[in-house]
Amino acid sequence: MNSNSKNIAVLISGGGTNLQALIDNEKDINGKIKIVISNRENAFGLVRARRASIEGIVIRDDDILLDTLKDNNIDLIVLAGYLKILPKSIIREYENRIINIHPSLIPAFCGSGYYGMKVHFAVIDKGVKYSGATTHFVNEYADEGPIIMQESLEVLDSTAEELQKRVLEIEHKILVKTVKYFCDDKLKIINNKVVIGE
Ligand code: GRF
Repeated sequence: MNSNSKNIAVLISGGGTNLQALIDNEKDINGKIKIVISNRENAFGLVRARRASIEGIVIRDDDILLDTLKDNNIDLIVLAGYLKILPKSIIREYENRIINIHPSLIPAFCGSGYYGMKVHFAVIDKGVKYSGATTHFVNEYADEGPIIMQESLEVLDSTAEELQKRVLEIEHKILVKTVKYFCDDKLKIINNKVVIGE
């Protein structure tokens, strides 16, 4: 870690396997997970945070959330399975400093109503041959911010549950890489597109 080390907040609502991937790879990232915030009390991700000696708290109120992010001098917000829409005030305050992970190849199977298992059921229902995962910056429109990284897989004859598992493996990989690039100041947005620099 050098002096530019970034303070990271990870926002979750559930199991937190993406959070776990970040915890497991934190040593290779020029940043520190300062706080894990859940909008749900029983999110298993809070247990993962505690086990890694990271502060994990439940916040449901948007104003308290913004104050907490500011109090912790957060440089990067990672939405890792956070199932609540962020208020415009936070999106504006942290413009180009909020990253989301989505379990499909955006712009397919994303936006309003596409979250969790619903995405994988829709993929199988449509019969598309490829799916995957996407990391992107967050703007005020759901899943529409500039795309950072994507990786695909063949759907084959996977059930929705099997597909979720396979996609999660990709999610963990590209989320860690994305956060690493961000913390190394390698992500530039030019004409609404992300360029990964040296
Ligand atoms: C992931 O599929 C993520 O893309 C989606 O919610 C799921 C969260 O999984 N937004 P986990 O809590 O990180 O295990």
